[in-house]
Amino acid sequence: MDSNLGEVAKTNTVLLTGGTGYIGSHVAVELAMSGHSVVLLDNLSNSRASVVDRIAQITCKPVQFIRLDMLDYEGLCAVFEQYNFDGVIHLAGMKAVGESVEKPLEYYRNNVGATINLARCCCKYNVVNIVFSSSATVYGTNANMPLCEDNDTGCVNPYGWTKLMSEQILRDVARSRKDCNIALLRYFNPIGAHSSGLIGECPNDIPSNLAPYVLKVASGQLPYVRVFGNDYDTVDGTGVRDYIHVVDLAKGHINALDKLNTNCGLVTYNLGRGKGYSVLEVIAAFERACGRKIPYKFVQRRAGDIAICYASVDKAREQLGWQAQYDIDQMAIDGWKWQQYYVKNLFNE
Ligand code: NAD
Ligand code: UFG
Repeated sequence: MDSNLGEVAKTNTVLLTGGTGYIGSHVAVELAMSGHSVVLLDNLSNSRASVVDRIAQITCKPVQFIRLDMLDYEGLCAVFEQYNFDGVIHLAGMKAVGESVEKPLEYYRNNVGATINLARCCCKYNVVNIVFSSSATVYGTNANMPLCEDNDTGCVNPYGWTKLMSEQILRDVARSRKDCNIALLRYFNPIGAHSSGLIGECPNDIPSNLAPYVLKVASGQLPYVRVFGNDYDTVDGTGVRDYIHVVDLAKGHINALDKLNTNCGLVTYNLGRGKGYSVLEVIAAFERACGRKIPYKFVQRRAGDIAICYASVDKAREQLGWQAQYDIDQMAIDGWKWQQYYVKNLFNE
């Protein structure tokens, strides 16, 4: 275990697993800005240590970081020994759908294993407030839009199953421990970046998700966007998704933590905008943001994709008092700003 902590006194604070990742770094900023003390934990398998300094630069606050693999249960116990956590936000996990089909056991071992170790530590050290990053993928091929939290679930790939299994594990923990409060947050499609341009998504390989792919085309690293299908029953024939600015998504975690403090038991919320955009509408927004044409070609539908997916966001609005603020243009503007910073400063890091 590596850490920049040294010998620190026990403090009340939030543990953020996956804290150096794309969403985690934005949640870290929102936690710090809302007065929480935060400890980031990550094994850096899909992120970089340098993000810790950039989070500190944005927040003007020191950031504590522990490099640890969550599958190391003893190491995780040592972290819980060191702190008196008020709550845990659990984002650490592998997230590539296609890769999960090729390497299912790695995904089950890592994602489910990490959740079990975290839940064991929470029980052992009496940490009763847990926020978990789930996904709209748990709704499977359900075509009843908008998707509500009480809709049927079911998955079509191992990644999705790791989310649904983790949800179930946490649900059972909540049943067995009446003092436990758990928020299952089902993210829709987070894109964009912090307005500072200092943090954002930096996929190591060729991205499989639309927005980072579009950004690589916009910055000349890839020749054109492959638009997967133009014969769906949608506004322009291309797939429709509920894109949400990652900063809005990150803010939702603060509302969820507040909710847990009301001793609410287990709760589930969609975090989306409740509005769908087509692939072509997304490309157009990025063209406006970067002021250049983004070439694309229509190709075959991608296996496993559904035509339309968007959230009902009523429950989060009513019970969390949370609602996304930023529109697709702001997502594209901030994403483009980040992409330029990344290419200039981090590309060869
Ligand atoms: P990310 O890959 O940028 O961040 C995940 C972080 O977890 C990475 O920094 C990685 O190094 C770390 N990690 C993985 N396994 C670990 C382990 N065993 N121990 C410690 N650290 C580990 O991904 P993200 O987009 O920030 O996603 C965060 C969470 O949100 C993930 O659980 C993901 O499944 C979920 N989610 C993401 C999306 C999306 O579109 N980005 C959508 C729905 C849900
Ligand atoms: N798309 C393209 N070309 C690309 C990539 C995507 O046309 O190069 C299209 C897809 O067909 C889809 C839309 O863009 O219509 C969005 O695709 P993404 O891969 O960006 O996102 P998905 O909705 O397929 O899935 C993402 C995450 C899942 C998560 C889900 C809901 O990858 O893990 O959002 O949160 F479950």
